[in-house]
Amino acid sequence: MADSRDSTSAHDDESFKAAEDVVARILARQGTALASTRFQDTTHDAGDLEREARAGMRRVNDIASQTELDEVSEVEYRQVRLERVVLVGLRTTQSLEESENSLRELAALADTAGSHVLDGIIQRRPTPDPGTYLGSGKARELAEIVADSRADTVIVDGELTASQRRGLEDVVKVKVVDRTTLILDIFAQHAKSREGQAQVELAQLEYLLPRLRGWGESMSRQAGGRVAGGEGIGSRGPGETKIELDRRRIRSRMARLRAQIRDMEPARRTQRAARRRMGVPSVAIVGYTNAGKSTLLNQLTDAGVLVEDALFATLDPTVRRTQTSDGRVFTLSDTVGFVRNLPTQLVEAFRSTLEEVGEADVIVHVVDAAHPDPVGQVETVRGVLDTIDGTETIPEILVLNKSDLASPERRALNRTLFPKAVAISARTGQGIEELRQLIEDTLPRPRVYVDVVVPYDHGDLVHAAHEQGEVLSEDYEAAGTHITAHVDSALADRLHHVNAAPHG
Ligand code: GTP
Repeated sequence: MADSRDSTSAHDDESFKAAEDVVARILARQGTALASTRFQDTTHDAGDLEREARAGMRRVNDIASQTELDEVSEVEYRQVRLERVVLVGLRTTQSLEESENSLRELAALADTAGSHVLDGIIQRRPTPDPGTYLGSGKARELAEIVADSRADTVIVDGELTASQRRGLEDVVKVKVVDRTTLILDIFAQHAKSREGQAQVELAQLEYLLPRLRGWGESMSRQAGGRVAGGEGIGSRGPGETKIELDRRRIRSRMARLRAQIRDMEPARRTQRAARRRMGVPSVAIVGYTNAGKSTLLNQLTDAGVLVEDALFATLDPTVRRTQTSDGRVFTLSDTVGFVRNLPTQLVEAFRSTLEEVGEADVIVHVVDAAHPDPVGQVETVRGVLDTIDGTETIPEILVLNKSDLASPERRALNRTLFPKAVAISARTGQGIEELRQLIEDTLPRPRVYVDVVVPYDHGDLVHAAHEQGEVLSEDYEAAGTHITAHVDSALADRLHHVNAAPHG
């Protein structure tokens, strides 16, 4: 008994240390959640259960990382040693296929975060256990898998409360991370602009703050144990003071971040407003993470945006200028990749970025045609779009990308599921011209007819008419360039303002 208390206390120390590490890391913005302190593997009873016979427990095949441990270089090997993970999912109301797909996606996320996925299991259970997420028996079985595979981290495909995380850690004796923490961490690794970084950090702290409590409680329990029978005193032990301090530091950091983000907003607004005033129509590329948005943007603009076979390579919106075949300028912007169960804190944090989509003239929605569940991906993306004001009236072009990867059966099925979609391959260029044409046809056309003489010192306006409008005729007269054209109303006003012709 005494032994088990001691080991629990030791574990609490470790647990508290890990909690401190997470706080410190986020505040210092370095490293990854998966790479922070790990627990010592304490003595562990291996047991002799037959894994395959475990009722209600299902292993997911093909989930382990492709790389064989002995194939990786020494440097990589060290990293792999740091992050050997086992994935765990609960199947509550979903079909088996859905929960397996979700766990596969979790594996891809873990890969993106730089971990080596060793194993994945799914437990069938109507609701998560409030104490240990998995049922206690299954949690012990997981502990055995962890010990056998010498994993150092368990990633849970869901959101954990602080006490579930702690409860499960107590059983499996290694660090436990949940899906949201993992996603936030990947976002933190990938955010490049100052605004993006501030947004992700704010989301991380928002997620962390209510979860500090569990760590604080574990410390007070310990302190209470030492101060014999200390009712109330225990709860004000050193741990709690430290937690309060952390809380205060976190809150003030969050306030600073909010102010920073607020300060950056006007610049973004001004840029957007300037584009509007210039009458430049905009196309927003949206889609599930890894659907191929950046690759498509490159195909359409030769922008040289970073393309990675990793989830969430894109976090900061990239805006590029391009032209229609008849010379009208428009902008194309790449947006953050969407993902199932995107942490609400993140959707909130990225709201100002997502608002750009609400002001686009056309939405190009990219879907990975080779993915096993394209419908689920489309629904997720539309679910997020529905929360953004203004998107419901914007025309949407659905694009089935990666046609080169999809099997003929999959392509046929996709045609039935999405009859209006354009099939392309952003990698090979197949279908790109057709898509380009469709975008051009969907872009708003300038509506106002003008017949004006533009003085020669306002050549920029003639240039603008060519770029944004459709010039019908152009003659050079003594007073200036005589043009007839269709332009938008803003440019029409400016042209009328300088008009040197008596008939104006
Ligand atoms: P996030 O930044 O995560 O939102 O991803 P994204 O949607 O911007 O995807 P990205 O363009 O980064 O592409 C993801 C991966 O898919 C990369 O490895 C691309 O090379 C690959 N890819 C994109 N389009 C195609 C395609 O048409 N065919 C094939 N075979 N691969 C593609």
